[in-house]
Amino acid sequence: MDKMNENNSILPGVKHTIAVASGKGGVGKSTVAVNLAIALVKEGYKVGLIDADIYGPSIPTMLDVVNEKPKLVKIKEKNRLLPVVKYGMKLMSIGFLVDQNEAVVWRGPMAASALKQFMSDVEWDELDFLLYDMPPGTGDIQLTLTQSIPLTGAVIVTTPQDISIIDARKGAKMFEKVNVPVLGIIENMSYYESNGGGRDYIFGQGGGEKLSKELGINFLGEIAVDTNIRIGGDEGKPIVLKDTSSAAAGQFTAIALNLAEQIKNRARLNPQLPVIEI
Ligand SMILES: Nc1ncnc2c1ncn2[C@@H]1O[C@H](COP(=O)(O)OP(=O)(O)O)[C@@H](O)[C@H]1O
Ligand SMILES: [Mg+2]
Repeated sequence: MDKMNENNSILPGVKHTIAVASGKGGVGKSTVAVNLAIALVKEGYKVGLIDADIYGPSIPTMLDVVNEKPKLVKIKEKNRLLPVVKYGMKLMSIGFLVDQNEAVVWRGPMAASALKQFMSDVEWDELDFLLYDMPPGTGDIQLTLTQSIPLTGAVIVTTPQDISIIDARKGAKMFEKVNVPVLGIIENMSYYESNGGGRDYIFGQGGGEKLSKELGINFLGEIAVDTNIRIGGDEGKPIVLKDTSSAAAGQFTAIALNLAEQIKNRARLNPQLPVIEI
């Protein structure tokens, strides 16, 4: 049997945990998280996705599971939640437990406790990758996550725009401060491919790559602005599934493979981490 992540007592069957984060909202974290997760499923990995955005969950909509509910079961006398399964991956979101139209008005500790329960009370079983779709910012949820489990790493999503880069830098530094490796930076909404050919760099050019050089972090790639990415999110069928031959699907898939490869190499090189044979 494959070796498990033995440092990880609340998620004993999960090999790698990746936070998809940024400083800012609206830069495409959730979009990137769902598309990377699906790309990994298509490569044959066992994948789970936790919607850690307790105040603004997007996963139910983005994966068309708004009316799903996790089942409550008893395993060894303990109440356990079975994750919702869609497109071959396991999911948990606060959106499954509270009405979509009701705002979650909880204080920080309650939101943090919900996230912890998503790990400790959900039957994730064995996973190669568990992704976290993070809320914006560097607050309670980020700290809770980094203090609850030894995260494999974080991926920072940013647009090329300065205002996003500034917050991405803060996000990356926060993870470094708490000793979570930043596995890479993804630049989303990099440019718009116009019909007549040619690229329009709506939000500026090269900001993500520049930031990755500045911080000495791997640059994982660019994703263009694409109407079909937005539609895929709204319809609950991400572009990596819906339009497999699109440039965007190719970009997401390449980034997912690069990330998986990097994580496997890190596990091999770092004697503190178990060697993973996937
Ligand atoms: N590359 C892209 N091209 C077109 N629309 C995008 C792209 N990335 C994200 N979007 C859209 O932008 C909005 C915000 O994205 P989202 O993933 O929810 O951001 P975040 O999770 O960072 O708040 C969504 O409506 C999404 O469909
Ligand atoms: Mg989001």
